[in-house]
Amino acid sequence: MTEAADFAAFPKLELHLHHEGAAPPEFIRRLAGEKKVDLGGIFDEQGHYAYEDFWHFLKVYEAATEVLKTPEDYARLTTAVLEESAASGVIYTETFLSPDFCGGRDLGAWKEYLHAIREAADRAERDLGITMRGIITCIRHFGPDKARETARCAAETAGDWITGFGIAGDEKAGKPKDFAWSFDMCREAGLQLTAHAGEWGGPQSIKDALDDLKVSRIGHGVRAIEDLELVDRLAEEGIILEVCPGSNVALGIYPNTRCHPIEMLRERGVKVTVSTDDPPFFHSTMAKEYEALHNAFGWDEEVFGQITQTALEAAFCDAATKEKLAKRLETRA
Ligand code: ADE
Ligand code: ZN
Repeated sequence: MTEAADFAAFPKLELHLHHEGAAPPEFIRRLAGEKKVDLGGIFDEQGHYAYEDFWHFLKVYEAATEVLKTPEDYARLTTAVLEESAASGVIYTETFLSPDFCGGRDLGAWKEYLHAIREAADRAERDLGITMRGIITCIRHFGPDKARETARCAAETAGDWITGFGIAGDEKAGKPKDFAWSFDMCREAGLQLTAHAGEWGGPQSIKDALDDLKVSRIGHGVRAIEDLELVDRLAEEGIILEVCPGSNVALGIYPNTRCHPIEMLRERGVKVTVSTDDPPFFHSTMAKEYEALHNAFGWDEEVFGQITQTALEAAFCDAATKEKLAKRLETRA
């Protein structure tokens, strides 16, 4: 097993995927053509997304959402994203959904978008055997007031399909505690919690997310490696890291996969999982992530099996769904 194509056969669970960030560029271009929207220079000559650095990436990401304006657009996006994931061997995906982009945080509008997304996800489950669940995500650089509106959308639609609440966006904007009210409300509504931290912020950003937002999972969290006491705390408390090595390398946090701390974190007992984040932006797929980890650290079926079990335990879905997934992992079906 050495190539991405071989790793596609391995059943995978992905816990960290931004819905708009997973939009294939050709899908966004097609929609722009249909709607006669000029997206300006967000693509390079090969047709890939083009950006200079993380902050520019966030701008390009938001520019691409300009063509995603109706529930029907999101239904089509959902189908396109799930087809890509299923082709990479993903059998379960937890996807970050943002009412900011789906109806401007209006609860009635958000419910219509959610209905369309769920219908498309149900079709994909039947046709492609991939199960999706949604984590509603506020956007840090949009500020705490908008996050409260997003949290309200999350609390009002919490259930067996919307299972979590999180925060993404520019980690340097504000502090986790500015968003504590939103996280408290979502926890009370029964949602499980995750926060992006330790990607652009150092170890303190992870401590703040744990202490102020009381999350059970951290998106990225890799910069914990700069503080071994924190690494030990993550291991002791069983905090799950949603690690996205290809994203970290593409955005320049680490020069290559061999320099990525995922293996050191795993060796020190931290519960790590593997995801793509925004795959077409980073020329990545889940199969390619597995291939890169195999080539960098010699990870084999046994290690990938452990990673997948960790993801199953950490998934925000209900016990019945986990049982079904566990059976599929056992039989590799
Ligand atoms: N939104 C989409 N991708 C992100 C990332 N890697 N970090 C923070 N916010 C994001
Ligand atoms: Zn992310």
